[in-house]
Amino acid sequence: MSVLYELSGVARYFQRGPTTVRALDDVSLEIEPGEFVALEGPSGSGKTTLLQILGALDRPSAGTVTFDGSDLVKQPDSELAELRLHSFGFVFQQFNLIPTLTAVENVEAKLAPAGGTRGRALELLAEVGLAERADHLPAHLSGGEQQRVAIARALSFEPRVVLADEPTGNLDSATGGEIIDLLANLAAEHGSTVIVATHDASLAARAPRRVAMRDGKLAGNVRAVPA
Ligand SMILES: Nc1ncnc2c1ncn2[C@@H]1O[C@H](COP(=O)(O)OP(=O)(O)O)[C@@H](O)[C@H]1O
Ligand SMILES: [Mg+2]
Repeated sequence: MSVLYELSGVARYFQRGPTTVRALDDVSLEIEPGEFVALEGPSGSGKTTLLQILGALDRPSAGTVTFDGSDLVKQPDSELAELRLHSFGFVFQQFNLIPTLTAVENVEAKLAPAGGTRGRALELLAEVGLAERADHLPAHLSGGEQQRVAIARALSFEPRVVLADEPTGNLDSATGGEIIDLLANLAAEHGSTVIVATHDASLAARAPRRVAMRDGKLAGNVRAVPA
């Protein structure tokens, strides 16, 4: 099994009053295990909609989405929930940390239902370079540090795929670059596939593969030639 995702003719339509918004229109795409992919395009081009379908948070209106050999469109909700918990890790623009929990507690809260320990949560924080900040509340961390906590949390279950939606949108460009590099390194170390949506072409340029979107369609699909 060499292909992780196989999308064929994927569409997602939303009804807005009398008009049908084609958030995704005839998207066909393959992603291999361990790839680091930047999904780039202007606001409204369909990046979030595509990430949500890749992460089993949403279903397409048409087309097929095969993940690891199984057709996501045909899976029951319970199976999609299981995939979201164990196979996919999510990172968002707004970090989405629990404000009343410390950094380590935020990671622990995700691990706890599966019997995860504080020690494991600390290991994950060390991996993102935050061991010393483990006992700080999110409000006492910088934006870049908060996003590192969110990345540690997303890695809790050693996900097959990390899906990051504008993870640098609330960060200055230097910090944003560090976050992209961190995601790339972690992907390589954990063997995770990482798909990052961004409207920032300079960040997308750091990824070995760039998939460009315009108006719900794929506008380009470039793999860097290995040096
Ligand atoms: N739940 C929804 N209902 C109606 N329209 C939506 C919904 N979600 C997304 N859209 C529309 O679909 C298009 C693509 O949106 P989105 O995937 O969020 O783009 P991006 O993440 O690239 O900014 C936009 O025109 C957006 O307004
Ligand atoms: Mg978006």
